[in-house]
Amino acid sequence: MPDIERRTATHGDERALAAIDYATWSTQVSPAPLWPRETPFFDDRTTPENVLFAHEDNAVLGYVKLRPSPMPASSGHVQEINGFAVGPNHQGRGIGHLLLDAARNKAIERRARRITLRVLGTNTRAQSLYLAHGYRVEGRLVGQFLIRNSYVDDVLMALHMD
Ligand SMILES: CC(C)(COP(=O)(O)OP(=O)(O)OC[C@H]1O[C@@H](n2cnc3c(N)ncnc32)[C@H](O)[C@@H]1OP(=O)(O)O)[C@@H](O)C(=O)NCCC(=O)NCCS
Repeated sequence: MPDIERRTATHGDERALAAIDYATWSTQVSPAPLWPRETPFFDDRTTPENVLFAHEDNAVLGYVKLRPSPMPASSGHVQEINGFAVGPNHQGRGIGHLLLDAARNKAIERRARRITLRVLGTNTRAQSLYLAHGYRVEGRLVGQFLIRNSYVDDVLMALHMD
């Protein structure tokens, strides 16, 4: 494995992160239609401190978005993964594993006890990776999405950290 570093994003990383997001979109991994290429990566809830990314020789290889629950009064112990992708040319190198480790460490640093995420039923590769990191399926919204004339489940997964 090459020497890959992980760090929190800055606004200067926005273009590279948006390019990975765009390049990894497919109907197998996203229920949303492909967005315009120039769509900003950061918004009100996706702020730089909530994006961890792996880089090598100044190139962004992949990222994971980890943000607090939108209901901090009752769910302050919950962090959400709401974006996770590795550039097509760098997939299969173990970077996904590194990013999930980084997300877990960051969640612990934020005193979380639980990380939640949602994944399409068709995205078996991501599901296997989450299972390998201790995430468990907690629910399934059956046929939640109609994608290319097929009904697809929304799978709810979570990691408990004690
Ligand atoms: C899911 C994703 C982030 C994984 O990143 P990655 O860097 O390729 O993952 P890793 O290299 O750490 O590999 C994870 C596992 O997938 C396996 N894998 C890698 N490339 C694969 C391929 N082309 N086909 C099937 N499995 C593959 C690896 O062997 C590894 O399994 P192992 O732990 O048993 O060895 C990446 O595939 C991706 O960006 N997918 C599109 C976006 C997406 O699905 N995001 C998740 C939304 S919920």
